[in-house]
Amino acid sequence: MIGTNLKMYKGVLETRRYISELGELLFDLPRENLEIFVIPSYTAILPAVDTASKSSIVLGAQNMFWEDSGQYTGEVSPIMVRETGAEIIEIGHSERREHFGETDFTVNKKVLAALGHDLRPLICIGETAREKEFGITAERLATQIKVALFNVDKEHLSNIIVAYEPVWAIGEQGVPASPCYANHQQQVIRETLIEMFSEQAYGIPVLYGGSVNSENAVSLISQPAIDGLFIGRAAWEAAEFDRLIRSILSTWTRKSDD
Ligand code: PGA
Repeated sequence: MIGTNLKMYKGVLETRRYISELGELLFDLPRENLEIFVIPSYTAILPAVDTASKSSIVLGAQNMFWEDSGQYTGEVSPIMVRETGAEIIEIGHSERREHFGETDFTVNKKVLAALGHDLRPLICIGETAREKEFGITAERLATQIKVALFNVDKEHLSNIIVAYEPVWAIGEQGVPASPCYANHQQQVIRETLIEMFSEQAYGIPVLYGGSVNSENAVSLISQPAIDGLFIGRAAWEAAEFDRLIRSILSTWTRKSDD
């Protein structure tokens, strides 16, 4: 899986133009082993559905509330997200944790609600710079996974996606994690998933995100524990995203064949 979160950028027209350009650029790529997804703003999802489906690009939404309906002014329910045509629902991005009070516990409520509505939760986890400095990254990641997936039924596991995004690696001030560091933490995540769900944990893709760019994408994806990439800035120009995807393709194919 390779995808991008457009954050609070690109309105309806820009999103449609971006997805249609991306679809044209990527039209020749085989998709059996490669899922490409784009997560635009809420307002742009519905208008982009046709363009995305013609281009075999899966759409997602960036957040939702856990209740189906109610007196929750300004919130969007899982039913509403589904109505837009989004399949993936991003939950717990570090910007939501930092600016909007999202916690591991609200992430869990959202994950359960998403699964109950046949959405595929893309659960974002990652340690802050402070947690890294204190040497508690592994504990933090294990806690985030255990709480996010608390009470999740094994039959829903095939819909779960995890993105490991160290908070210190995200955005303009971010420093990309070294491939080796990222691989090590992804293993910690995998081990926690195995502790919770035994063999079935292997079906859950764990992506890496945080300052992925055309220079580090190949070495990141070469790591055995990295199953895909979740990209911000380096994917927001269709031509650049296309080049990045093509640059990792042979490594990707080799990995999928193994
Ligand atoms: P970035 O964003 O690639 O621009 O660092 C990653 C993210 O926020 O998921």
